[in-house]
Amino acid sequence: MPIKQFDTEAYPGNGQFKSITATWHNEPYPRISPARPELTANGKVIFITGGGSGIGKATAIAFAEAGAKIIAIFGRRVEKLESAAREIQKANSIVTVIRVSVDLSQRTAVDKAFENAAQQAGGAAVDIFISNAGILQELGTVSGYKEEHFRKGLESNMLSTFNAVQSILPHLTPKAKVFDVSSGICHISPLPGAWAYAATKAANTKLFQYLQAENPELHVVSIQPGVILTEINANTYFENQDDSKYTSTCPSHNTAPDFY
Ligand SMILES: NC(=O)c1ccc[n+]([C@@H]2O[C@H](COP(=O)([O-])OP(=O)(O)OC[C@H]3O[C@@H](n4cnc5c(N)ncnc54)[C@H](OP(=O)(O)O)[C@@H]3O)[C@@H](O)[C@H]2O)c1
Repeated sequence: MPIKQFDTEAYPGNGQFKSITATWHNEPYPRISPARPELTANGKVIFITGGGSGIGKATAIAFAEAGAKIIAIFGRRVEKLESAAREIQKANSIVTVIRVSVDLSQRTAVDKAFENAAQQAGGAAVDIFISNAGILQELGTVSGYKEEHFRKGLESNMLSTFNAVQSILPHLTPKAKVFDVSSGICHISPLPGAWAYAATKAANTKLFQYLQAENPELHVVSIQPGVILTEINANTYFENQDDSKYTSTCPSHNTAPDFY
């Protein structure tokens, strides 16, 4: 469906989504280059959930380029993990790539998966954990939304994240860095139909805020990657933010020009 674009002169963005920052990037830029010495990941052990595709895979490749020692990727589809591992290895031939197939919504399997990866890493503790796996739930309004879809979304996005966080904690270095791949959808005006996704992403971000408060020695960060064409949203149409059927009175509503 063609997307009616808004005026990107007035609002930075991609014509469909308004940027919440003054600058909108469509490509990686020099300041975040993994080749920068200040951003080196030399010798680091990094575990990434959902590392077989999309943002997780790109993150793994960037860490390989930054000199990581061991990168472990987790996801359900073995073929995705294997092809991602080949790409990661291509970025840095000396990085050790570990891939473990696991459904993160199954707690016992998650414990075993991280244990297995830690063993393959020679017992090395994890310096950087990236909680990235997630799904985009079926779209629909709150009224009339099927309980089974809601439950599946809770399991896929919240329970999986909870499982991964609880299970990784014993494997972390004392001052490990923990990243939550969150979403700007937690903060922008409602996008029609996306409430279940927005709700679980916002809930996860609260989980990570509490994790930080409870573990001040860790460095916990929620990031909002912006809009990236990956498998998660390849077949989903969101209306232009200007076309939104809904208005928001929530304090995080931030599409007004004076926000910048
Ligand atoms: N793309 C965007 O515009 C965007 C914007 C904001 C935030 N995000 C967030 O970015 C993260 C990555 O998404 P993406 O865009 O890169 O899409 P993606 O390519 O579909 O990546 C999602 C990954 O999560 C894994 N996964 C999903 N459920 C899982 C489960 N139960 N157990 C294990 N692995 C599971 C998938 O692997 P398997 O299917 O093989 O298990 C897949 O590799 C998500 O948390 C998403 O909410 C994306």
